[in-house]
Order: sequence, then structure tokens, then C-alpha cells
Amino acid sequence: VCRVLVLISGNGSNLQAVMDACDDNLRAEVVGVISNKPQAYGLVRAHQAEIDASCVIARKGESRAEYDERLQLKIDEYQPDLIVLAGFMRILTDELVSRYLGKMINIHPSLLPKYPGLHTHERALQAKEEEHGASVHFVIPELDAGPVILQAKVPVYEDDDAEQLALRVHEQEHAIYPLVVKWFSHGRLIMKDNKAYLDGQDVGPHGYA
Ligand code: GAR
Repeated sequence: VCRVLVLISGNGSNLQAVMDACDDNLRAEVVGVISNKPQAYGLVRAHQAEIDASCVIARKGESRAEYDERLQLKIDEYQPDLIVLAGFMRILTDELVSRYLGKMINIHPSLLPKYPGLHTHERALQAKEEEHGASVHFVIPELDAGPVILQAKVPVYEDDDAEQLALRVHEQEHAIYPLVVKWFSHGRLIMKDNKAYLDGQDVGPHGYA
């Protein structure tokens, strides 16, 4: 069984999608949830699913390196095979990311490499994009720049506001993230030379299509 650890900061709707999928998928199990925010609703979801959850809260004046050292200790307690970032809103140090290279994935609310960083929906609207979406990618030290594994596209409508667009993207996120977790837990997905391979095939710059 693939031991999946999910890191969150908020609502945890992607955590929910992954937990639900793992229930139907005997090769993956969510063994824990870590939040950097004690009030994250995802912690309630973990509790409801009877999954062990912990908080690693940043201390006043603590450096990023110090925080990530504590986070790493917590992560290693769970002995995960896969670390799933699901709305975990902290930038990780190179040291932490390097330690779990090829074993850590993230979901980002844009069609990467477009719109790394924050406020992706607002920026897509401002640029009058006709298409927007979400990307699941392996995590590398450079922010939101790791090899894309799978993307989902949604249309952008003229009268959309950021909230409507975010909802449409979210729905897609809940479909693609569990699928990628399943690929990984079945041993079909690896990262090599900064590329994502599914069943031995390079998925290409926009992920599996
Ligand atoms: C998701 O839309 C995810 O793509 C985004 O946060 C949201 C978390 O929602 N992640 C990032 O912006 C990462 N930089 P959730 O807590 O309901 O899963």
C-alpha cells in the first residue's frame, strides 16, 4: 500500500477528493494530514475520516529553514511514500523539497507554466484568457515549476468573476488529483531528469493528454 501524506492549509476539498478515492483504491491509503493552520477545515475532514492529523504552526520569528526542519520531522513520522500538497500555502525550502524529490506532488490552480504563484484566477481573467484550469506537478525547488503530470482545462466566460472561475477549476481539481495519486500508487508514475513519466513515457510539457 502506498502511504499518502497530505499537507493542507485550508478547506481541504482536494484532501477530501483524495481520501474518497483512496477508499476505493486498495493500493493507496491516506496515513496522515498535516496543516500549518490550526483552523483549517481540512483538519475536520481528516477527523471525520478517522485519519491522524497534526498541525505544524509557524512560530514567531522562526526562519523558513527552522520551520521546515520541524515540518520534516513531522513528515517523517508518517513514513510516507507520497506527499500530496493540497492547498498547502507555504513556500518550501530547497532542502525540504530535495529530500522528497519525486515523491512530492502539488496541485496548482492554473495551466502551468502560466500563472505560477498567487491570485491565478484574477490574473487569468485580467489577461482575458479563453481557457484556464489546474495542473498537478512534481515539486522541485523552483516554485510551481516542476514537471507537469496532468492538466485539466475549463472555459473562461465573458461574464465570469474570479469566484465563478475558481469553482469551475476546483471541480476539475477534484477529478485530476485522485487520478494522479492512483497512477503513483500503482507504480505507473515517476519523475526522472526533471520530467514526468507515465508507464515509461515522457508525458510532455503539458502533462498526460
Ligand atoms: C486549490 O484550488 C489549489 O489548487 C490551491 O489552493 C486550493 C486549495 O483548495 N493551491 C494553491 O494555490 C497552491 N499555490 P482546497 O483546500 O479546498 O483543496
